[in-house]
Amino acid sequence: MAGWWSFGGAFLLFFGILVSYLYKINWIKDLRLEGDNKTVLANHLESKKRKLGKLPPVYPNGWFALLESSQLGKGQVKHVAALGQNFAVFRTNNGTVRILDAYCPHLGANMAEGGRVKGDCLECPFHGWQFRGSDGQCDYIPYADKVPHVARTKTWKSCEANEIIFVWHHAEELEPHWQPQTNSHVSNRTWRYHGRNEFLINCHIQEVAENGADSAHLSAVHGPLVFTKIAHFLSAFVRHSWTNINWTPHNSFLESLNSKETELERQDSENLRHRAYMTLRHRLVLFERFEVLQLDVNVKQIGPGYVELMMHTTLGSMCIFQTVTPMEPLLQKVTHILYSPPLLAPCASLLFLGECLMFERDVAIWNRKKFEKRPLLVKEDKSILAYRRWYAQFYSQHSPSYHSAIKSLQW
Ligand code: FES
Ligand SMILES: [Fe+2]
Repeated sequence: MAGWWSFGGAFLLFFGILVSYLYKINWIKDLRLEGDNKTVLANHLESKKRKLGKLPPVYPNGWFALLESSQLGKGQVKHVAALGQNFAVFRTNNGTVRILDAYCPHLGANMAEGGRVKGDCLECPFHGWQFRGSDGQCDYIPYADKVPHVARTKTWKSCEANEIIFVWHHAEELEPHWQPQTNSHVSNRTWRYHGRNEFLINCHIQEVAENGADSAHLSAVHGPLVFTKIAHFLSAFVRHSWTNINWTPHNSFLESLNSKETELERQDSENLRHRAYMTLRHRLVLFERFEVLQLDVNVKQIGPGYVELMMHTTLGSMCIFQTVTPMEPLLQKVTHILYSPPLLAPCASLLFLGECLMFERDVAIWNRKKFEKRPLLVKEDKSILAYRRWYAQFYSQHSPSYHSAIKSLQW
């Protein structure tokens, strides 16, 4: 018994020293807080010299994360600039989230900066006009006898799932035909929140999720040991192995038209064609011989900007929600939010740190690459083409191009 205690104590001591060392060299801090603005700015400047390639439209159609639920209390309003829009996101006192165009149609004040939530309405700070969150209609003008019919502002559909607030963005203004679903472990609170990170990345949104279909980058980018920065000597005899890799779109619509599926199955395929799946198995390989720390990952890509990663270890399962939102045509905000059973928290945190460091390697490539519209591929890369065909469903006739989107950002 005493042996176990001293083993446990030694382990905790080692872990404590490791974590404080990582804090000291700013690894955890950099990865878990708001991102390093200096680096982002530098990347941004560098991007002016960078070749862009022939880009797909920059704002796809779908649900995109604007805030986390904890960032918007009852009666609060926040301004979020993303997807070429300025959103005033507010929460009424009964908890409903509403999204209006931030600029007041009266004289253009930004209603999210100093505006007040009044019932279901947002009150503009400039002259006190009140706009309904449900349909954008002006309900009240404090100094006018009559509210003109045309006094209204634009509204956006919102939904909340897994403690994330999403907005529906569609270039043709079509209504949503799907939405992110709440994970039952999160909603019944059997799994708890254990941390988040946030990155700003200078690349096209499509590049981020393309990683899932690009199996060949796994050993090149994610093969070397994750902690080599602090223990370089370990990399000679420890590496990560990635196997059982498979990327598939939800049974594609065209395929199902040709098959003998029932009408119900065909409808299901059509309803879920915004989803794609990836599986992979991770192992740590010691001395090219011994395999330890098996981790099975099931990834669900849900629309153009949201991913759920389920990770299964021998100790239990945990989940990371990834959101990708275009803040500008080539500036993506990516967040990862971790949930696990309470008892698994230390293990989940360590895995999360590993995931952060691995993701940082992808970020370094995305920040500098060009988008290759006609990539030179070998047959083992075929999932990349399948991925691009799948992702194309999120673009439509009026989806903004890079040039039209960039023009609207210029004063
Ligand atoms: S600008 Fe909003 S009420 Fe006047
Ligand atoms: Fe990657």
